[in-house]
Amino acid sequence: MNIILLGPPGAGKGTQAARLVEHHGMVQLSTGDMLRAAVKAQTPVGLQAQAVMQRGELVSDEIVSALIDAELTAMGPDTGAIFDGYPRTAAQAESLDALLAQHGRQLDHVIELDVNEDALVERIVGRFSCATCGEGYHDRFKQPASENECDKCHGHEFKRRPDDNEDTVRTRMAEYRAKTAPILPLYESRGIVSRIDGMAPMNDVSVAIEAILASD
Ligand code: AP5
Ligand code: ZN
Repeated sequence: MNIILLGPPGAGKGTQAARLVEHHGMVQLSTGDMLRAAVKAQTPVGLQAQAVMQRGELVSDEIVSALIDAELTAMGPDTGAIFDGYPRTAAQAESLDALLAQHGRQLDHVIELDVNEDALVERIVGRFSCATCGEGYHDRFKQPASENECDKCHGHEFKRRPDDNEDTVRTRMAEYRAKTAPILPLYESRGIVSRIDGMAPMNDVSVAIEAILASD
């Protein structure tokens, strides 16, 4: 099974991908996570991407498609892939078609998380994660059970993304509207798009995604 989770910043792609990894043993291919790892390691790709990400603009199509290619090459052919934050442009959608063919995979579903952009700013600006294990939290929607301690690994250090401020979030949303939303008709014409309510509580969103996967 190969699926794309599509939606603007803060729509819940990463949250839902993590659940699919846990329940279905699929692999999450998040170009955002890959780029953040490259920035942290200060690799040549990271050095190129850092300022672009900080502004909320898109990194070059060549860089992200090469990252996806490397991950698909490293994966077993039978492991399902969740594309999270990729493709984001028409050129990336084209590259993904070529990569899937090359790796003997086919796209089963494009799941669009339908959301209200103003509410997303609150979601993103309130987001933080465990510095040790990466578990995601939110100032309002998902606090750790004991204050200042990660529920999962009991770590005490948390971090926030440098691009999670209101200005950058607005740019990221504008990028989504201008460059990513226009790729939807391509997938609609193939009859593989399911649109679900991304404003529903997290568990309801998960249930809706499970129903789509079970419909095969
Ligand atoms: P990326 O890392 O992909 O960020 P994004 O698309 O902006 O998405 P987010 O991670 O912000 O949101 P999400 O949808 O995963 O939401 P989440 O589950 O965390 O990209 C970052 C940057 O990298 C880009 O700006 C670009 O520069 C570069 N980049 C990456 N990929 C690229 C590509 N392919 N091409 C070019 N450049 C690329 O949820 C958000 C918060 O809301 C969380 O706190 C969560 O707990 C909460 N939440 C989630 N669901 C719900 C719910 N149902 N109800 C209430 N709260 C919820
Ligand atoms: Zn943790």
